[in-house]
Amino acid sequence: MTGAVPRMPTDLSQLEALATRRLGPGPVGYVAGSAGNGSTERANRAALDRRRIVPRMLRDVHERDLSVDVLGRRLPAPLALAPVGVLSILHPEGEIAAARAAAAQGVPFVLSSASSTPMEQVTEAMGDGERWFQLYWSKDRAVAASFLDRAKKAGCTVLLVTLDTPLLAWRPRDLDQAYLPFLHGVGTANYFSDPAFQAGLARPVQEDPNAAVLHFVSMFADPAKTWADLPWLREHWDGPIVLKGIQHPDDARRAADAGMDGVVVSNHGGRQVAGAVGALDALPGVVAAVGERLTVLFDSGIRTGDDVFKALALGAKAVLLGRPYAYGLGLDGQSGVEWVIRALLAEFDLTLALAGYARPDQLTPDSLSADGHF
Ligand code: FNR
Repeated sequence: MTGAVPRMPTDLSQLEALATRRLGPGPVGYVAGSAGNGSTERANRAALDRRRIVPRMLRDVHERDLSVDVLGRRLPAPLALAPVGVLSILHPEGEIAAARAAAAQGVPFVLSSASSTPMEQVTEAMGDGERWFQLYWSKDRAVAASFLDRAKKAGCTVLLVTLDTPLLAWRPRDLDQAYLPFLHGVGTANYFSDPAFQAGLARPVQEDPNAAVLHFVSMFADPAKTWADLPWLREHWDGPIVLKGIQHPDDARRAADAGMDGVVVSNHGGRQVAGAVGALDALPGVVAAVGERLTVLFDSGIRTGDDVFKALALGAKAVLLGRPYAYGLGLDGQSGVEWVIRALLAEFDLTLALAGYARPDQLTPDSLSADGHF
């Protein structure tokens, strides 16, 4: 403590309210908005809030180590920044500021396919910081292959393939404001800069941006994909492959059978299917099904240090942080993202210690009570 009042809230669950006051309704609506009436986002929070930590005493927690082994990498903490597209709507430095913050704090940055800055510029800005790549599995195989090739050359070590977005959901906050940055060529930088994408255009992007946007929309995602397509991924990526958006244990088993390395239990922060199960409620079933065979990661609803604790206790090896870091970026650029990472990890470290644990791998479902009693 230096006596100076912090510029950002120490209770990270206050970030959304602060961002709503300070940032424009379009960008805030895009980040905060969910599918339908928001019921899945609320279920995400309810699932986290329902579980309660049961602190243990007298267990020598004076020395703690937050580091974990995840997908063959040693991470300083069980945390990565989730892939979040179109960050330039929140701050002019967009992905560059966020990636620099992740690198400065030693946390992996997951580059989104839908970033507003071409991936090479983002990775260039982050020195040798750990970077993973998130693929929106394009209908156009040449474009998907080119993305993977570029990501490899840009030093990405792990591939996350997002399966829960074969179509963009019904999102009232965006629809009501007619706010969709992609239609203005924002969040399309990886596509517009891609040689395989450009090869499908009659005229260069700058000469006919509308045609480029339409071409993007026509290939962005592919609702026809099935499990039979997975070997293609393996042929084009030699590092770890993680399927993002898995919620059913049978889907997790299929991922393991297909030779994948991990899954992210996630419902995209409630942005895709309204009325769906809270993500944390899906975690135990997936861990029971494949926890021995696959690395299980978690996102959707993580806001504070105790949320991280709860996800790890239920078997996740690490969590991805989404909206809170996007708000941090909007509020204070790179420093805002660094603040969010530092505050989250400091709170997690204290929660761990005060609950009687010195390392993330000591957490088990026994560290929690399921419904407020045990
Ligand atoms: C996302 N998410 C996302 N996921 C992905 O695989 N690729 C992407 O480009 C994006 N873009 C994106 C934009 C915005 C504004 C948000 C809020 C989310 C989903 C993200 O990776 C993660 O799954 C959720 O953010 C987790 O939910 P919470 O914890 O942020 O509520």
